[in-house]
Amino acid sequence: MSQWEKFYSSYPPPNDYNSSLKKISAFCEIHKDKKIVLITSGGTAVPLEHNTVRFVDNFSAGTRGSASAEYFLQTGYAVIFMHRQGSLEPYARHFKGQELLELLEVVQNETGETQVKVQDSSIHKVLPILKMYETVKSEGRLIKIPFVNLPDYLWLLKGAAEVFSKAGENVMLYLAAAVSDFYIPPNEMSEHKIQSRDGALVISLHLVPKILQPLVNAWVPNAFVISFKLETDESILISKARAALEKYKHKLVIGNILQTRKQRVVMVTTDSSYDLIVTPDEMKAGLEIDKKIVDEVVNLHELFIKGTF
Ligand code: PMT
Repeated sequence: MSQWEKFYSSYPPPNDYNSSLKKISAFCEIHKDKKIVLITSGGTAVPLEHNTVRFVDNFSAGTRGSASAEYFLQTGYAVIFMHRQGSLEPYARHFKGQELLELLEVVQNETGETQVKVQDSSIHKVLPILKMYETVKSEGRLIKIPFVNLPDYLWLLKGAAEVFSKAGENVMLYLAAAVSDFYIPPNEMSEHKIQSRDGALVISLHLVPKILQPLVNAWVPNAFVISFKLETDESILISKARAALEKYKHKLVIGNILQTRKQRVVMVTTDSSYDLIVTPDEMKAGLEIDKKIVDEVVNLHELFIKGTF
């Protein structure tokens, strides 16, 4: 049994697994004449106990995935947004938490009725986003599939890939989620809340098998797969991205450095690497690097479909 088969056999699928796959399958059928992208977004939680009180998590807020989803939708793609529950979502990301309250005000209309309205000074911000959201909603071009922990993420990705196995080159997988590399196998996990009275906690985390291996080579051999590589040390970013391309045999890795990921990424193919950058002026004008990434990736997808990439 391979490493990833062993991993899957030690976890049951998530409760909503079948309904999520039905949703993905129906969505793919409706949009079979369009380009479809599955975006993964946000971090994965790794439980420390079966009755989970604590887990190991990572920094990912889901900005890359949720912003990219909006730009793919703008170019006409149908989008399956597989995201960490509670992380940023397309369109809603612009109005998070307290900000929403700042955009609204309570007013009385002419007949004395109390109403809630968007403040005049905020309409220019709210209207374009609302319009885009309503268009996408009326066209049914976005579905959201949530996950929380690592096993659920891996099950859902495998299930989605099985749905895509019959699809052709028009399907893209854009793997922006920050997937944990480490976990505790269920047979080594505490059943109940780990007790502090037992003293300092020493845990041994095992390596999660790299899902890119079966994904690219067995599950969706025809799809356009793009993985991301996050590093904190610039000097190893391109070599690690290239090593992933050599190992998994997909076409494109997008590299980013934790601290500069909103200003710069590096596009790495088997024979080239080039930067995409947003300048401080572009940022001030509201341009996000995710727009540049998606424009580039959409062009490359077109070449991939034509067989020239
Ligand atoms: O969400 P934000 O705050 O906007 O941050 C965006 C981001 C930095 C998380 C995103 O741009 C990004 O880089 N995502 C990938 C992060 C990551 O997991 O890098 P990695 O080097 O650990 O993994 C490389 C690739 O292997 C990833 O595409 C991952 O999906 C894949 N992987 C990882 C673990 C695993 N067990 N199997 C995998 O296939």
